[in-house]
Amino acid sequence: MFPERFSNLPAYAFPRLRALLDPHPAGGPVLHMSIGEPKHPFPDWVGPVMAEHAADFGRYPPNEGTPGLRGAICGWLNRRYGVTLDPERQVMALNGTREGLYNAGMALIPETKNGQRPVVLMPNPFYQVYMISAISVGAEPVFVPATAETGHLPDFSSVAPEVLARTAMVYLCSPANPQGVMASAEYWADLLALAEKHDFRIVADECYSEVYRDAAPVGALQVAAKTGADPERVLAFHSLSKRSNLPGLRSGFVAGGPESIARMKQLRAYSGAPLPLPVQHVSERLWGEEEHVAASRALYAAKYALADEILGHVPGYMSPQAGMFLWLPVPDGEAATLKLWQETGVRVLPGAYLSKAQPSGTPGAGYIRVALVAPFDETKAGLTAIRDCLFA
Ligand SMILES: Cc1ncc(COP(=O)(O)O)c(C=O)c1O
Repeated sequence: MFPERFSNLPAYAFPRLRALLDPHPAGGPVLHMSIGEPKHPFPDWVGPVMAEHAADFGRYPPNEGTPGLRGAICGWLNRRYGVTLDPERQVMALNGTREGLYNAGMALIPETKNGQRPVVLMPNPFYQVYMISAISVGAEPVFVPATAETGHLPDFSSVAPEVLARTAMVYLCSPANPQGVMASAEYWADLLALAEKHDFRIVADECYSEVYRDAAPVGALQVAAKTGADPERVLAFHSLSKRSNLPGLRSGFVAGGPESIARMKQLRAYSGAPLPLPVQHVSERLWGEEEHVAASRALYAAKYALADEILGHVPGYMSPQAGMFLWLPVPDGEAATLKLWQETGVRVLPGAYLSKAQPSGTPGAGYIRVALVAPFDETKAGLTAIRDCLFA
C-alpha cells in the first residue's frame, strides 16, 4: 500500500533531466549549467569555526536556534529591511529553507477553509516543494501563470473569487527562480491586501534576496511593517545557501508572526531535526558579515553583463534583475536542452521541468534555465556554446 496523493507525481526535475540526456553522449567537454548550486567561495573561517565547536556535536541542539543565532538573524533583518523582530518569538533557524517551506504547510494549513478543501496558490513555473507541501496536507495546489504576459510574476488578483475564498496559503518566490524578476513594494502591498481580504497567509521565499544586480530587492516583512499588516500574514524565508555560497551547510531561517512561528517550532519539536550546534555557531557569524556577500554579488554582476553581451540579441531575452539564472526563451525547451547536450556538452534545464502542465499550456515549455554559478571563464564558454548552438 502506498499513498495515492504522491503516486502520480512526475519524476523530480533532475532525475528527469538525467533520463533525457544520459542515454546520449555529450557533444563536447561537459559544462554544468543546470543546477543552482553556488560555486563562489565561502569565507575561509567557516571550517575553523566549525572545528572550534566540534565538541558540540556531542549535544542535542536547541530546536529553535541558539539565542546567539536568533539574535544575529534579527540583527541582519533589521539592517537589511529596517524591521524589528523579537528573537524569542519571531524567528526560527532552519536546516536550509526547503524543509521550512515544506513544514510551513504542515504546521499552518487548516483542514478546511470556509468549510471547503483549502487551496494553496503558487506561481507556475515554481520551486517544486510548494506543491508537495500542499499535497501532503490534502490541500489543492492551484498554479497561477508567471509568464511574459504577467511580467513573470503571478497575478494572484486574477484568481477566481471562489478559489480565493478557499485559499489558505500563497507561495511567492522573489527574486524569482527561475525568471530572475523581483516583486516590487507595490506588488507585495497588493498581495498583502488580497491576503487580508481573503484571509490567507503569504509564504515569501526570499532565498535569492542577496543576489541582485543593482537595487536590493524589497522584502515581504519590510512592506508588511510599512503597511501595518497583521504580522501573522507573512512568513519570510532566507538561506545561507545562496547568500553565503554554503548550500551544503543547510542553514536558513523563517521569520514572521509569533503564533505562526510557535506552531512551526512545535511541529519540529515533535518531528524534525534542528541544526547541529557547530552549524548554528557558524551561521551566527555569517549573518553578521556582509563582505563575502558583496564579493559574491560582484561576481554575479559580471556574469549578468556577460550574458547580456553574448545573448542580449536573442528575441525575448530577459536580463536577470537578480538570482543566479537566465530564463532563456527557445521554441521548445526540452528539444533545445537535448540539442545543446548532444552538440556541445552543455547541460541546462528545460523550463517545463519546473512547471505544471495546465489545460492552457505549460508555462515554462518555451524556455531553458541556465545557471550562472560556475566561474566566469567557464560561464563564458557555456554561454558562447548556447549562442552558437541555439541562436546562430
Ligand atoms: C526558489 C528556491 N527556494 C528555496 C530553495 C532551497 O534552498 P535551501 O534549502 O538550500 O535554503 C531553493 C534552492 O535551490 C530555491 O531555488
